[in-house]
Formats: sequence, C-alpha cells, structure tokens
Amino acid sequence: MKPAFRNLSPEAPCVEILWDGAPLQLPNGANLAGALLAAGIGTFRKTPVSGAPRAPYCMMGSCYDCLVTIAGVTRQACQVTVSAGLVVAPAGGSDA
Ligand code: FES
Repeated sequence: MKPAFRNLSPEAPCVEILWDGAPLQLPNGANLAGALLAAGIGTFRKTPVSGAPRAPYCMMGSCYDCLVTIAGVTRQACQVTVSAGLVVAPAGGSDA
C-alpha cells in the first residue's frame, strides 16, 4: 500500500534511527511523526482498553495519538525532530 504521506525534500540527508528495534533512514531535521508516516509506519501506539491502533492525527501536540517512546521516555512524535541515533518504539511497547 502506498503511504499517505511523502517526503517533500527527498534530497535532504538522511540519518539512521531505530524504530521498534529496526534501523530506519529518515530525513535529518524532519518532524518525527511526519517522517515515520512517510516511511510507512501506520501504528504509533494502541489504546489501552480496546487495543485499537492509533497514529498521528493533529500534528500539533493536542491529540496524543502519536505517542512513542524515545530512549524509554514517552513523547509526542509530532513534537520531536529527527536526529541521528534516536531509539524510538511504539508507546507501551510493540504489543501494547
Ligand atoms: S499528532 Fe496529535 S499530539 Fe501528536
């Protein structure tokens, strides 16, 4: 399936991050939520009650559907900039 988002600056230098333990090349300095969506990542977390998959919605820090853990700290991906070496995982873990 074709991602709903695309990188508007494909010439931007990429850096490596880890997404859920797997290496991923993302544009340096890009918005993390947008870059993950453009890379085809569709589930950032799951709801604690029903387990429904969630992905970024507002892209401005209001909805909290973009929660991920970065180096073990829960963060809003839409409020983080891509930089080399980020260790990112779905909030609550892969099975959350
Ligand atoms: S996308 Fe809504 S808080 Fe990040």
